[in-house]
Amino acid sequence: MAAMSNVSYDTMIPNNVGLSSDRRVLKALEKWHPGYINWWNDLIPQKFQDSLVYLRTAVSVDAKGWAKFDYVKMPDYRWGILLAPQVEDRKIPCGESTGEAVWQEVPGEFRSTLRRLIVIQGDTEPASIEQQRFLGNSAPSLYDLRNLFQINVEEGRHLWSMVYLLQKYFGADGREEADGLLQRSSGSEEAPRMLGAFNEETPDWLSFFMFTYFTDRDGKMQLESLAQSGFDPLSRTCRFMLTEEAHHMFVGETGVGRIVQRTCEAMKAAGIDDPYDTDRIRALGVIDLPTIQKKLNLHYSLSLDLFGQEVSTNAANAFNAGIKGRYMEHRIDDDHKLTNATYPVARVVDGKIVREDAPALTAINMRLRDDYKRDAAGGVGRWNKAIQKAGVEFQLQLPHEAFHRHIGVFAGQPIDINGDFLSQDEFTRKQTDWLPTKADGDFIQSLMVPVYDAGEYAGWIAPPKVGIDNQPGDFEYVQLHMA
Ligand SMILES: [Fe+2]
Ligand SMILES: [Fe+2]
Repeated sequence: MAAMSNVSYDTMIPNNVGLSSDRRVLKALEKWHPGYINWWNDLIPQKFQDSLVYLRTAVSVDAKGWAKFDYVKMPDYRWGILLAPQVEDRKIPCGESTGEAVWQEVPGEFRSTLRRLIVIQGDTEPASIEQQRFLGNSAPSLYDLRNLFQINVEEGRHLWSMVYLLQKYFGADGREEADGLLQRSSGSEEAPRMLGAFNEETPDWLSFFMFTYFTDRDGKMQLESLAQSGFDPLSRTCRFMLTEEAHHMFVGETGVGRIVQRTCEAMKAAGIDDPYDTDRIRALGVIDLPTIQKKLNLHYSLSLDLFGQEVSTNAANAFNAGIKGRYMEHRIDDDHKLTNATYPVARVVDGKIVREDAPALTAINMRLRDDYKRDAAGGVGRWNKAIQKAGVEFQLQLPHEAFHRHIGVFAGQPIDINGDFLSQDEFTRKQTDWLPTKADGDFIQSLMVPVYDAGEYAGWIAPPKVGIDNQPGDFEYVQLHMA
């Protein structure tokens, strides 16, 4: 299989799926390409289209050394179709067909379910680029600007991956869905993106880092469960996407960490001990920790909504069919069929939050959300270590999963960040303590002034500890070409 791990550049679309000998799909993708480029051109401000960005491009899908770094104009980025190498004798890891050979073609009976899952995943990719489209104008450094664009081109590539699956395996309706992915638009009234969190704004860089930490991590969990798919091309696609996703979450975690670090440094330097002395802290030109907590609350709760209903027959069917597995399915020690298994599911009973056993098969979403919560806690712990090390008395925390929810059993319930029920009045009154207000947003916005000098950083964020591709501190990650 070694041959397939190298990426071929012999067609306009780099790939490791033998596109040059698959004329039908190559033609379909070449037909789709101009619409994609138009969409990209309309989206990203012109001045950045002409700039040279130090980007990584995949040259191999091997775990080691898959990327090469170079200056690229974004519209010239070679968006490719890259699948992780095929695993020989791979077996369906879950559901009623556990242990049988994986499918290389779409089984007829699962066709519409699979198509739906691919379209939903595909829809999130361009959505995030749309949400982040204005951030280049206020980048705190060229390093951050480069990371933004790296994420953007990779989300674009993820869209390409899903479009490839649609064009290759789903015929005419796949083509229609591929076109639809360029027609819907984040926040649009007439044709919004499919999932709520992908129609929210990403108005500033703190939001961007929270989004890439929390919402890209939902993406990771979804990709992890699709990587378990018995439909092998989908599994391979998602496995390679996961290697890119890791960088997105790294940008989020280190981004928030650098903001937290800068705030603590500024407080110390000014002799401010009280993290709630908001006016004085803000006067230093940094973002106070309570406001960072509010942004965290917002993005975490929106991301939890992406896991859907706690009890879901759709999720049960997809698992049972072997289309979508659990997180780390291969490491779970059970029959992988969940015939008689149970799982504790969150519910509201008599104004209290309880966990009650439900059939594990219908609780797949709940379980994935629990895995997500554990995964998301890691970075919060590391942010807190930095705060502690700086000698500031404050701890960031994940709010209770029931807080500020729009989907599932907690939707619309007046539950606070600790999971306690309040009266609707009290909840409404206190909401400004927990979620960013207009004034918070305006203050953060006031700091969003671009810094485009190599090696310089906006005052509200610390420089990174290491450069991308080990470049020195004053490296020019983006050669701006402003008209
Ligand atoms: Fe993605
Ligand atoms: Fe991502």
